[in-house]
Amino acid sequence: MSTIFPKWFNKLPPLILAGVLGGGSAAVAGVWYYATPKFWRVGYMPSQPFLTSDYEDVLYREANPRVPGVTYPGFSHQIHAGKLGMDCRYCHSHVEESPEANIPSASTCMGCHAEGHVDEKFARPAHLRFVRDAWANDESIQWRRVHKLPDYVRNFPHNVHINAGVSCFSCHGNIMEQEVVHQVEPLSMSWCLDCHRNPEPHLVPRDKVTDLYWVRNQFRSTKLLNTASSGLGGLDSGTPGGAALLNGLREHDLHLLPENCGACHY
Ligand code: HEC
Ligand code: HEC
Ligand code: HEC
Ligand code: HEC
Ligand code: HEC
Repeated sequence: MSTIFPKWFNKLPPLILAGVLGGGSAAVAGVWYYATPKFWRVGYMPSQPFLTSDYEDVLYREANPRVPGVTYPGFSHQIHAGKLGMDCRYCHSHVEESPEANIPSASTCMGCHAEGHVDEKFARPAHLRFVRDAWANDESIQWRRVHKLPDYVRNFPHNVHINAGVSCFSCHGNIMEQEVVHQVEPLSMSWCLDCHRNPEPHLVPRDKVTDLYWVRNQFRSTKLLNTASSGLGGLDSGTPGGAALLNGLREHDLHLLPENCGACHY
């Protein structure tokens, strides 16, 4: 007797079920991925550092008469990285070796802002009191965190990106002109993947990674800055040499430009 339903047919319903469930969750993931507007964090700009209102009053009394609604002038990248031209790695000294970018401790600031150094001449000592107080009390300055991926994103290695030639500019924008740091890119999953699928336009020579003015001029001259933000989505042409850099990465066992879920998620 011929078998109308071969034996493997028994396995079909579970397979179909698995297919439906799998397809369903893929659809859910798809909607999440493409439809969730994650842009609300762009522009988040808290005053830095965090000061209790009592402490802020003390600092204000010393610095200036208090103007309502105006916060105490805190740390400015525009002064340090822009006007003074300090390299990012002077303060974020571990970005090249570590997955986590570090925030400098008060002792890094004290290298210049200890009494008798730059302050009397160039900066107002009263505006530096929060640094000196933290240092004297062996406390850390309470900086507010601006960029933060959700916890279920387990892996974002700064060092790998920087060593591959992705500039801070591509992800943090024109920090050197920001009085107060704010988030300029969405840091969404599609944003990560847009670059992983086509990294070439964002690769710069390794020694230019922290030279944000150079990078910006480069991107500008190749029309990579044609959208409001640095606009990873809308790019089409590469940086000069970007293709060669990409090939170089590939030859040196370019790890991966991961698109598989496990590379970034648990
Ligand atoms: C003089 C030291 C110093 C230098 C130089 C410096 N930074 Fe910073 N950076 C800080 C401090 C302090 C903070 C924490 C306070 C804040 O967010 O402004 C910070 C915060 C940041 C943040 C935000 C961190 C968060 O909370 O998400 C980014 C991004 C950043 N820096 C990038 C850069 C880049 C890029 C450069 C080089 C162009 C640079 N920094 C140069 C001291 C420095
Ligand atoms: C390489 C030396 C150097 C380091 C390191 C440095 N600063 Fe400065 N900072 C300066 C100089 C110089 C100025 C004055 C610049 C100007 O306004 O022309 C200044 C200005 C300031 C001001 C503004 C002062 C005012 O008059 O309003 C603050 C606040 C400040 N720094 C905080 C910090 C903090 C916090 C750190 C550590 C994260 C830090 N600085 C690290 C050199 C430095
Ligand atoms: C490929 C994108 C990318 C590049 C390139 C990049 N960053 Fe970041 N940065 C991020 C993301 C994403 C976060 C948030 C990470 C998290 O939440 O784990 C972040 C966070 C930070 C923080 C906050 C860390 C903390 O613990 O508060 C600092 C500081 C920082 N970056 C500095 C830099 C500097 C300096 C450079 C260049 C030398 C740089 N980044 C290059 C994407 C990037
Ligand atoms: C502007 C381009 C760019 C953006 C944006 C970007 N990446 Fe990458 N990423 C790269 C490049 C280039 C590499 C390959 C580095 C290599 O293989 O040397 C890489 C590699 C990686 C790796 C593999 C690291 C390893 O050790 O193999 C992980 C994980 C990763 N990225 C996570 C992320 C996450 C998470 C985000 C978003 C928050 C992100 N990336 C955003 C360019 C980017
Ligand atoms: C290059 C790194 C990277 C890869 C690869 C990746 N993700 Fe994500 N994913 C992220 C980041 C970053 C977020 C956080 C987005 C946010 O906060 O806006 C995220 C968020 C999510 C979310 C939460 C919803 C959302 O969009 O906010 C889901 C679900 C998700 N990812 C599923 C997946 C699946 C399924 C895969 C494999 C097909 C995958 N991810 C591959 C980086 C990645």
